[in-house]
Amino acid sequence: MCGIVGYVGDEECAGLLVEGLRKLEYRGYDSAGVAVLGKKGLEVVRAKGKLSNLEARLGEHMPKGATGIGHTRWATHGKPSDENAHPHKYGGVAVVHNGIIENHLELKDELLKQGHKFSSETDTEIFAHLIHREIEKGLRLPEAVRSALKQVKGTYALAVMSEKFPEMLVVSKNASPLVVGLGDKCNFVASDVPAILAHTRDVIYLEEGDFAVITKGEVELTNANGEKLNRGVKRIDWTPTMAEKNGHKHFMHKEIHEQARALTDTIRGRANIEEGDVFLDGCRLDAKLVQRLTKVQIVACGTSWHASITGKLMIETLARIPVEVDLASEFRYRDPLVDDKTLCVAVSQSGETADTLGSFREAKSRGARGLAICNVVGSAIAREADDVLYTHAGPEIGVASTKAFTTQLAAFFLLAVRLGRLRGTLSVPDAQKHLEALFEVPMLVERVLKYEEQIKAAAYKFSNARDLLFLGRGPQYPVALEGALKLKEISYIHAEGYAAGEMKHGPIALIDENMPVMVLAPRDSTIDAGVNYEKILGNIQEVRARGGRVIAIHSEGDTQVPKLAEAAIPLPQTNPLLMPIISVIPTQLFSYHVADHRGTDVDQPRNLAKSVTVE
Ligand code: G6P
Repeated sequence: MCGIVGYVGDEECAGLLVEGLRKLEYRGYDSAGVAVLGKKGLEVVRAKGKLSNLEARLGEHMPKGATGIGHTRWATHGKPSDENAHPHKYGGVAVVHNGIIENHLELKDELLKQGHKFSSETDTEIFAHLIHREIEKGLRLPEAVRSALKQVKGTYALAVMSEKFPEMLVVSKNASPLVVGLGDKCNFVASDVPAILAHTRDVIYLEEGDFAVITKGEVELTNANGEKLNRGVKRIDWTPTMAEKNGHKHFMHKEIHEQARALTDTIRGRANIEEGDVFLDGCRLDAKLVQRLTKVQIVACGTSWHASITGKLMIETLARIPVEVDLASEFRYRDPLVDDKTLCVAVSQSGETADTLGSFREAKSRGARGLAICNVVGSAIAREADDVLYTHAGPEIGVASTKAFTTQLAAFFLLAVRLGRLRGTLSVPDAQKHLEALFEVPMLVERVLKYEEQIKAAAYKFSNARDLLFLGRGPQYPVALEGALKLKEISYIHAEGYAAGEMKHGPIALIDENMPVMVLAPRDSTIDAGVNYEKILGNIQEVRARGGRVIAIHSEGDTQVPKLAEAAIPLPQTNPLLMPIISVIPTQLFSYHVADHRGTDVDQPRNLAKSVTVE
């Protein structure tokens, strides 16, 4: 939700800011802008729409200066427009902001009475006015920002600059993320690391209430009370090229194809087949702690929630402990039954989704132990967790999540094996079998990616559909949910994911020749003795009997399912609990090619954002 970037140093910075914003566009892309301070004073250039509109405007006039801030917006208060785009400037103060100021209307009334004139509908503009008012009273920029922050209620990541105090950025954060980058005779600030990765890999993650005064030679960090802080510098091991497209047309396509590598990185060094056990760096779970647990409570949103439903199945099957999965936005406000015998698992690619963070805090405040499955190192959820299991997917830029999902599944599987071993529900030989299967998964992922042309042909064939139904049973049910989410997110085709057995309780009424049905029908025999497969064959027949058109995802070598389908996509077989990692890939590629064929904006679908830092 909104991306911030800032620079202070010796170089012309407008281009550098735009380059940083490009890496942050996944956070919001309805308008963008930069403010640069140079000999001509503080110049602001903004444009509604994608970053390319801002670049076109900068092509006509590139402000000169070596101190600047930039912003890419996801609208909350005020429609996307030039006027509502950040930075907001007032009286020589420019501000970019990510978050929501809840009392902005009261403050605005007060300022209007004092003769202030506002030029946007945003809550953010209030900051520029408040800070200017404090500077007029004689405060220096850092004190003026501090005083303004005391007057606002809400969430923010904020970066401020002022004509009166050149070569200085003042930044602060409360709930929205902010990272400071340390350069050579220059320093940076950004919402996320990829924005500054081309310039530095040494960063300081700011925590709630942190306040920093950044000049080219120094970063002075204090807490909300003005006491000096030393947060420690982290070295990022992501390389700048990891956040590039590397010849792929879209980030989503690149990220789908990176999954074998991402899975290998997630598994590597954590599973030991000989010992039949898993070693989770960052998790301090031991037998005593785990045997006390009466339940596992998972909270997540979006794709991470779908991964969590599969995670429940993995943990319940291997560790025999009851697991509840909640949408984080629902969990927070339902007085949940959580206590100190609960392990709360928060699952989040970004580690900053507001609802997931809020639920995690809620569960922890009721005594639960908090374990985070996160991709972004040092993110808010990871920082607040007692135990962290990082997914090592690398930066995910496409708004529609792909490699984050499959690596979350691998992380859940590792966790389930570990819990099973600690609880004594999983024998060493059984754990060994499961881990052997896990080690094979990256290779199977490579194999399924080879079916891309076949999947693309199916996608083109059905790309004019208005609606599409995804069906799956058992471990394939969450894959059906995820397949439908992916398709609707990027192609704008209405899609529903359903447990196949539920089809007859509603969706069957919709089935006709205009409603293609994608059926996830791999053969699995271990956990259900083949029941899911037999039953789904019946569901396919029910669809066909009503004139429905079937796209089937089936096991290699299966001769029954392909005969019943208009398009059939084969899959290698594996342990049923790991099968979702394999079977989701054709659904990702199908959605990708449908969307690309329809010409939608695959990496930045309308109205969505990658990190949802508002409730
Ligand atoms: C947004 C993104 C989704 C993501 C969800 C949860 O809706 O567009 O791709 O699954 O947030 O995000 P998280 O970072 O918590 O996994």
